[in-house]
Parts: sequence; C-alpha cells; structure tokens
Amino acid sequence: MNPAHTIDLVVLEDYAALSRVGAARVAELFRAKPDAAVVVATGNTPMGLYRELAAKRAARVFGPGELKVFQLDAYLGLAPDDPRSLYRWTKEAFLDPLGIQPQQVVKLPGDSPDPAAACRAYDDAVVRAGGFDLAILGLGPNGHLGFNEPPSQPTDKTRVVSLSEASLESNARYWGGQGRVPKQALTAGMNVLLAAKEIVLLVSGAHKRDVLVQALAGPVTPDLPASYLQTSSKVTVLADRAAWDEHG
Ligand code: PGA
Repeated sequence: MNPAHTIDLVVLEDYAALSRVGAARVAELFRAKPDAAVVVATGNTPMGLYRELAAKRAARVFGPGELKVFQLDAYLGLAPDDPRSLYRWTKEAFLDPLGIQPQQVVKLPGDSPDPAAACRAYDDAVVRAGGFDLAILGLGPNGHLGFNEPPSQPTDKTRVVSLSEASLESNARYWGGQGRVPKQALTAGMNVLLAAKEIVLLVSGAHKRDVLVQALAGPVTPDLPASYLQTSSKVTVLADRAAWDEHG
C-alpha cells in the first residue's frame, strides 16, 4: 500500500538497457501469473522490450501460459487484418513472437458497424478478466496514454476519440503523410488503464523529456492524460537518460 502513490522512476543508460530491464520485469510477471491480463502498446518505444521478451520466451524463461492480451487502441474504420491496423502491429510485434493464440486476444475492432457497442464489449471483457494485471504503455508527445488524447478524464471509458493534431503529426511517418492518417480511433479508456494492478510506462529519447517531466511532476490535469499516473497505485516508469536528465 502506498498512500503517496509515488511513481517508481528507473533511469537507464540507453534504449537497449531500458528494453532489457522492461522485458525482465514483464517476464517475471508472466512467470508469476501465467494467466495475467495484459494490455500492450504499439508505437516505437516498446519494440525493443518485445524483442527481448520474445527471446526470453524462446529460451523458455516463461511458458506459453494462458495470458489474456488486450489491444490498446485501433484506428476507426480499419479491420484488424488491415496491414496498417494497430492490431496487425500488435500481432507481429507481440502476439506471434510469443506464440499467443487468437482466442487469448481481446481486440478493439476498428471496423465494427457499432464501435460504441464494441467499446462496451471490450470494457466488459476487462471486467471479466478482473481488470488488467499489467499495462505496457508508451507516452505520447502530447501526454496521451493509448489514444486518450488531451483532454481526457480519469473516468473516461473505452470509446471512440478524435485524434489530436499532435497525434496525426506523429503518426504521419507510418502513413506517408499526415493527411492519410485516420482521424478517429478507438482507445482503451483511462479508467481501465489507470486501474491496472501494474503499469509500466516506457519513455525514450530527448523529444519526450518535457512531456515526461510534466507527466511525473506537473499538475494532474485532463490536459495531460499521463499526469493521472501520479494517482495510480503501482507505476514504474522506465526512461532512458535522453528522456530523463537527472541533472537537468
Ligand atoms: P512512440 O509513441 O512509442 O512511437 O513514441 C508513443 C505514443 O504516441 O503513445
């Protein structure tokens, strides 16, 4: 029990160390709880951790287990098997390398004819799983978690959101131009993410420095959704030195 909700900040030498330490932590949790419910981010930052984790799985550091894996976010209008979908990214980076079977996965179907109902079904599945045991998250340049864009309230459920200019801009590189990035998305809600029993936030690079300071030490505000991590019970931030300058 930690009434002060202190965030455990671990500063690593570089991205490789961040990925190794992150993978060791996640593997330990998977070993201790083989049926853990875990929500996993896409984006660049967790890719090193996922590669390390796949190597640990191949070396049988943890077993196939019965993990339940939840997709964190999805572009509205894109089917899960669309090569540009975030599900495909999750599949290639996390599910396939770990040998996770389709029945272990809860998707956010971007192409659902009734996205609001799909979001409710997702939240129901989170409840049935007993909440997330682990959330592996990245930090958006605008302080978003998943696609919980500013402003987001801590009570916000899984829902359809409009992407901010900042997100459209930072995702333009994957789409060959900002104009091609879908304007809306489905995102796991703030409420289910913040209630995770353990949150690992991965932050790498000097371009995240300002937003990380704001998230950890600035005011808790809907304008910077990641600042609500200050109110969650078990948060570990793994940052490399470029993202957190202890002397700065
Ligand atoms: P990144 O994305 O890991 O590619 O920096 C983080 C995010 O936007 O949530």
